[in-house]
Amino acid sequence: MTDPSLFQIRGLTVTSGVLPLLQSVNLDIPAGGVFGFIGPSGAGKSTLLKSLNRLLELTPGLSITGEVKFKASPIYAPAVDPNALRARIGMLFQQPVIFPASILANVLFGVKRLGILPRRELHDAAERALREAALWDEVKDRLKGSALNLSIGQQQRLCLARTLACQPDVLLMDEPTSALDNRSTAAIEDLVLELQSRQPIVLVTHNLPQASRLCGRLALLCAGRLVMFGPTAEVLDAPALEQCLTPSSC
Ligand SMILES: Nc1ncnc2c1ncn2[C@@H]1O[C@H](COP(=O)(O)OP(=O)(O)O)[C@@H](O)[C@H]1O
Ligand SMILES: [Mg+2]
Repeated sequence: MTDPSLFQIRGLTVTSGVLPLLQSVNLDIPAGGVFGFIGPSGAGKSTLLKSLNRLLELTPGLSITGEVKFKASPIYAPAVDPNALRARIGMLFQQPVIFPASILANVLFGVKRLGILPRRELHDAAERALREAALWDEVKDRLKGSALNLSIGQQQRLCLARTLACQPDVLLMDEPTSALDNRSTAAIEDLVLELQSRQPIVLVTHNLPQASRLCGRLALLCAGRLVMFGPTAEVLDAPALEQCLTPSSC
């Protein structure tokens, strides 16, 4: 029988020397909607998220054991090409990662590197991705202009467009609005709600009202351990959440 989970995480343990960052995490992330990771700063949310597309192994000095399956295939198997995997599992970070190049070059960076589209289709792909990221109308007349001149909120949507241009199967987002003002945060939240009907999203947020607005299910992490997971309302109401968020309790 095919497993309906998007990600199946089993016994995932990450250590730096003797310091545990994640301790034997077992979690199934379903194949639809927005799934959130919440927990206090330092709980291991980013570490867990980056283990889902093998970005974590680019950090030197970490040992990663256990298993992560994506659509029933083990992603740490020797035959898996991490770059191809990272294109299927797109990621958006806390701070927009912008190259000192044009808006067009930024949006096409991933697709060009992967070589997945013929040259003649690149411009259409850029337009499609910029429209999906609700940025097209603001940049269509200055595609050759520097991306560094965009506001930080626009830069974050440009990063989203760059990821969407690769047509990922899922989007990982690590506190994607924490550097943004209220207006840009609302724009990204609207996009999350819109995009989730096409591809699932795994979102790290320290903002509980945002988790409540966006996520169907949540996992609560505390000191490298998965404390609980379930429907958003249940996790947000659980006594374990308050205990976790009280300093020095977890
Ligand atoms: N490369 C690293 N080497 C050693 N410790 C790390 C490294 N990256 C993160 N940590 C530590 O691991 C813990 C979890 O980090 P992180 O996953 O970034 O937490 P969160 O995203 O929940 O704030 C923190 O205590 C952090 O200091
Ligand atoms: Mg983090």
